[in-house]
Amino acid sequence: MSKNHQKVVLVGDGAVGSSYAYAMVQQGLAEEFAIIDLSKERTEGDALDLEDATPFTAPKLVYAADYDTCKDADLVVITAGAPQKPGETRLDLVDKNMKIMKSIIEPIKASGFDGIILVAANPVDILTYAAQKFSGFPKHKVISSGTSLDSARLRVALAKKFNVSPVDVMANILGEHGDTEFAAYSSATIGGKPLLDMAKEAGVSMDELLQIEDEVRHKAYEIINRKGATYYGVATALMRISRAILRDENAVLPIAAPMNGEYGLDDIYIGTPAVINAQGIDRVIEVPLDERETKAMAASAKTLKEIATAGMA
Ligand code: LAC
Repeated sequence: MSKNHQKVVLVGDGAVGSSYAYAMVQQGLAEEFAIIDLSKERTEGDALDLEDATPFTAPKLVYAADYDTCKDADLVVITAGAPQKPGETRLDLVDKNMKIMKSIIEPIKASGFDGIILVAANPVDILTYAAQKFSGFPKHKVISSGTSLDSARLRVALAKKFNVSPVDVMANILGEHGDTEFAAYSSATIGGKPLLDMAKEAGVSMDELLQIEDEVRHKAYEIINRKGATYYGVATALMRISRAILRDENAVLPIAAPMNGEYGLDDIYIGTPAVINAQGIDRVIEVPLDERETKAMAASAKTLKEIATAGMA
């Protein structure tokens, strides 16, 4: 990855992809940004619209492209896939989005691309697992947005509860980016103080914390029921992960990473903090879990393995 000219390719110019492209332009990340979508007209329109923003942020080439553009890209971000509709779970999307993922990875691989793949199509943990299998890329170079968005939602909710800035709430959602996700409260801190101690002092019960966990777990449905889709939160999470890669930050971010014995798990992508840099996933940070969290992680992994096995069959 050359430091002075970085290229990102977005595959999927729907609400999430377009919002991600806008976030990347706003942040001035990457000197070249190519957009691939089945709808050429839409990508051309988005590219023309986005380039009008660049004089206010940072010079950047933004253009509609085909898969051959991936060849010299540093990062390919895949948002393409059917989004959840009201009443649908993310896991309901696995069959149709698995086919789409296969149709995307093949031309990316054929282009000679050898950078980092970042996946945000749902069910994201399973589709990232599939992207790694279909591409044959080293596991550390295929990253899932995982529970990055969910962890942001948890931080927002806890910040409101404890009247602090969400920036200063260190708390992670682990497991599936989906209905089996859980809050790792036992390792959460605010200002270096264990969250559970702060809760005791503030008279916040475990039931209230579990209520917050449930609200976070279901926040996407609340948004989808009101506006039809979610996109700004996940797009900004994707921008944050992209920045860690493009700037070689060694940033510790909650994403979904391939397990290699962590949490007693193997051959699965699941939500956990990891160190992210220009090489992709540098290493997983295995968070200590209490008894409740250990059970929740095992249940989440079981669900993901079952769906992945069926989806890949
Ligand atoms: C959500 C989608 C991105 O959680 O899965 O909003």
